Amino acid sequence: MTVPARVRRGAIGVFDSGVGGLTVAAALSRALPREHILYLGDTARLPYGTKSEQTVARYTQTNVDFLAGRGVKAVVVACNTASALALPHLVTDLPVWGVIEPGARRAAEVTRGRVGILATESTVRSGAYARALHARRADLEVLSQPCPLLVPLVEEGWFDDPVTRQVVERYLAPLLEREVDTLVLGCTHYPLLAPLIAEFAGPGITLVDSAAAVAAEVAAGLAGAGLAATVRQGEDHVCVTDVGERFERLAREILQRPTRLELVDLGETEREGVR
Ligand code: DGL
Repeated sequence: MTVPARVRRGAIGVFDSGVGGLTVAAALSRALPREHILYLGDTARLPYGTKSEQTVARYTQTNVDFLAGRGVKAVVVACNTASALALPHLVTDLPVWGVIEPGARRAAEVTRGRVGILATESTVRSGAYARALHARRADLEVLSQPCPLLVPLVEEGWFDDPVTRQVVERYLAPLLEREVDTLVLGCTHYPLLAPLIAEFAGPGITLVDSAAAVAAEVAAGLAGAGLAATVRQGEDHVCVTDVGERFERLAREILQRPTRLELVDLGETEREGVR
């Protein structure tokens, strides 16, 4: 069946709880220069990483419903916590990509056997990375470290601050002691701390950021489904559920251009089964 041109011209919808998912949006833009992106940062309900599966599933559903209502042709869940907890509950007709599977696939390819996962508390509790890694390589040793303090430090823009250095060093210590050879940046905020994490990890450890891996999968998936844009149709657009000057500043840093924000109200439409 051919996909109508009107559908192919739609944006790729991308959402995260905050600014971190813009690292995924930037990777998508690099891999797919003809596509335009509608980004939703759910800043009013951030953080997701400390919340329950039910709550994150409900938030995810409202975010996807909002993006679908704006006519996107596909959705990228650029939040590890939502990818880990909410995808099995999600009800939508759109093609959807999460960030856990591509990240795990990449880590399984590069590791020599011992993988450390840095993620939010909820992602670690879900066991999603360990499951995805073991499904690929049952021999792998997987060690997980929840890093709840890193999201607020990134949202604050403290990418290389003495406080952040201390926190990163402390979170990495147990994983370095166990001699992991690969570290998965299992939260979309952490790539913004990659230089600092790499500095403490040292040259023998490979960092895995799922953003590039997701972008490659989305590119292949859109092409396979006949959904890829042939010419660029629109501009990228960023929506947030709460205004913040801080978000605007960080967005400018990540996307390397000024970014105007649209404040939106998701209305929290409840759906049967995801309450
Ligand atoms: N961006 C979210 C993730 O990738 C973490 C931020 C939050 O806790 O909301 O898990």
